[in-house]
Amino acid sequence: ERKLILSPLERMAICCIFFEPSSRTMESFGVAANKLGAFTRNLVGERDGKTGEWVIPYSSMIKGETFEDTIATLSTFYDAIVIRHPVIGKVAIAADHSVVPVINGGDGIGEHPTQGLLDLFTIYNELGEVDGKHIVLVGDPKNGRTIHSLIKILTHYDVKVTIVAPEQLMLQEEYREEAKRAGILKEETTEFERVIPTADIVYMTRVQGERFPNNPEGQAAYERVKDAYIMTPEIMATAKPKMALMHPLPRKNEIDTRCDADTRSAYKHRQMRNGLYIREALLAAVLGKV
Ligand code: NCD
Repeated sequence: ERKLILSPLERMAICCIFFEPSSRTMESFGVAANKLGAFTRNLVGERDGKTGEWVIPYSSMIKGETFEDTIATLSTFYDAIVIRHPVIGKVAIAADHSVVPVINGGDGIGEHPTQGLLDLFTIYNELGEVDGKHIVLVGDPKNGRTIHSLIKILTHYDVKVTIVAPEQLMLQEEYREEAKRAGILKEETTEFERVIPTADIVYMTRVQGERFPNNPEGQAAYERVKDAYIMTPEIMATAKPKMALMHPLPRKNEIDTRCDADTRSAYKHRQMRNGLYIREALLAAVLGKV
């Protein structure tokens, strides 16, 4: 008989190292770890005003210690490390220098795998099934790492994926090819309202303003696309009665707050809470306790 372990991570220590802002990922990892009996610390990084390097304030990174050596050091104290970094591939480098598991909490415009897992779980939970569903991903598939990770995960299922984005923000070739190879890519289009009535999931995303060049042209380009697609109650009215509306959050204008009260809106509470459950499960799995 299997004994239920209430605190599988008792006396363990988890470190969240975040070089980019976070409300959900960092907090839900912290609460998940605490609920399982571990204690946590958050180390918040920033760009050094003088050198332009990404550093943890008051750590030896200020004295010029490398990212690699810093991670090697921290990994000797902690049982697992969660990292978010603006530079694509940096989390993988951290994993190479750590002696404990490293979890990717988002790497630049690369991936956000734990968001992908919680999104998959939300689709399953909302619809009771993943296979056979039509999933519409809207907004910024070019820069949106949550879309990248969700596509990778969905290649393991028998789904149809439609991408809705302005021409400039369409999927990068790598992800398009992956989706095509798996036979899940139904369509890439700029027409939002046309596809909504056939969607089982509508997954809205924020246009990633911080990924546009920080100059007048870049900001003008962002202004042109930032409100390209906005979900409203009027558009919700054309969707299936059992459609689920998702968003990794934070939202800007892309979901009208009047949609929040619709029972099909999963983003407001259910999707986020699933992030807590998924991260609890992941920590327990990664630390060998399930
Ligand atoms: C996302 C992210 O950081 O990639 N947020 C999240 O973790 N839920 C989405 C975003 O910032 O647009």
